[in-house]
Amino acid sequence: MPFQLKQLHKTFFGEITGLDLGQPLDEATVAAVTAAIDRHGVLVFRDQNIGDGDQLRFSNYFGQTQRSITVHREEQARRLGQEELSDISNLDEHGFRMDRTNPRRLYQLTTMLWHTDSSFRNPVGKYTFLCAKRLPAEGGNTEFADMCAAWDALPAERQRTLRDLQVRHSLAYSRGLVEGSPPLDETERRNLPPSVHPLVRVHPGSKRPALYLASHAESVEGLSYEEGRKLIDELMAHATRPEFVHAHVWRAGDLVMWDNRSTMHRAMPFDEDRYVRELRRTTVAESADVLQAA
Ligand SMILES: [Fe+2]
Repeated sequence: MPFQLKQLHKTFFGEITGLDLGQPLDEATVAAVTAAIDRHGVLVFRDQNIGDGDQLRFSNYFGQTQRSITVHREEQARRLGQEELSDISNLDEHGFRMDRTNPRRLYQLTTMLWHTDSSFRNPVGKYTFLCAKRLPAEGGNTEFADMCAAWDALPAERQRTLRDLQVRHSLAYSRGLVEGSPPLDETERRNLPPSVHPLVRVHPGSKRPALYLASHAESVEGLSYEEGRKLIDELMAHATRPEFVHAHVWRAGDLVMWDNRSTMHRAMPFDEDRYVRELRRTTVAESADVLQAA
């Protein structure tokens, strides 16, 4: 292997050292990273000192980068020029810390709910890449949940009842879960409609089944709204039990890559009035031909 790999949690989450993402990678290295992410679900690449162009090049080895959903919010100023880069920060478009009334700050509260990226889109998000630029002195961890381990822990008879279910994912729904978060405007509603996906997806690389859930999961096809809500809430609670969760404590130079089909994640709070936290996100979409229902 062209790098060192160490597992940081008992079931998932790998740490990679000895690889410079500031340089182009050869095919064998990309294949080794793919095998590592298939096995571990999340990878942290330590000690990276890379620019946005390096992050885009690295992301594009694994698929087509999606445009940030913020491009669909027309009245909102974007700090970053490139549409494939999402600004995960508490900075406004002038580079100052956002105050409490900034709608983007309210909107970002939704990232503190357990979710997987772009599950309300079709094709869904495959991998997300998040690169640390500036970090708070304390707080601001990202937590990850192993959705393969969560599936494996369910009794076989329960698995059988879940296997064929389809779930409707909606950004309008998850946005509504956070008090004060601005509702979808008309452009967002038009460009980001809900999407239906299997509750259980077999990972195309590892061939392992995983629960496919998120804060965006609103209802279950064929069940009443209340029955669907009850089932989703119960499975979300199950999948985020402490034994399935790893808290990533960010270090300077970290780039974290995760598989949205086998993990969930959430942002943890930090003192936004005191510290700057700035990360860059890119997401590549799953191509339609790899989707497999369980
Ligand atoms: Fe996310």
